[in-house]
Amino acid sequence: MSQRTFSIIKPDAVKAGNTAAILAEIQKAGFKIVAIKRMSISLAQAEGFYHVHSARPFFGELTQFMSSGPIFPMVLEKDNAIADFRKLMGATNPAQAEEGTLRKLFAASIGENAVHGSDAEDTAAFEIGYFFAGIELK
Ligand code: PPS
Repeated sequence: MSQRTFSIIKPDAVKAGNTAAILAEIQKAGFKIVAIKRMSISLAQAEGFYHVHSARPFFGELTQFMSSGPIFPMVLEKDNAIADFRKLMGATNPAQAEEGTLRKLFAASIGENAVHGSDAEDTAAFEIGYFFAGIELK
């Protein structure tokens, strides 16, 4: 069944000029790009987005990184989008990511790992609503 997930092309990948190449891989894998925009977020906005990780030791590093430069948040659609996009992204640590995955191709480290993807239906709904208004999602 068709499903939506939420993704971000992170500051490291945008800075490295990999946005178009990442979008090409995403489309090649069968995802429809429902919504996308370029923006920068504040530290407080990054903290709100990652609130579930606030107790993790890397929370400060993660939120500072995500507010350090332009990002491309986007909404993607296909059958089984959430699980399939996690597969396409590869492991959180690019050193452990499988060949051909976005993080293997484009990420340099566990802290700066090129892309984000929602991990479940409830987080996808929260994350889509955090970045996009209903009128942008037709
Ligand atoms: S996940 O997505 O929950 O399965 O992955 P998890 O490993 O729990 O990581 C949650 C997010 O934290 C980022 N992360 C880190 N950032 C900086 N330093 C370290 N060591 C680190 N470990 C994990 C990871 O990339 C996840 O961010 P998103 O944006 O969700 O990919």
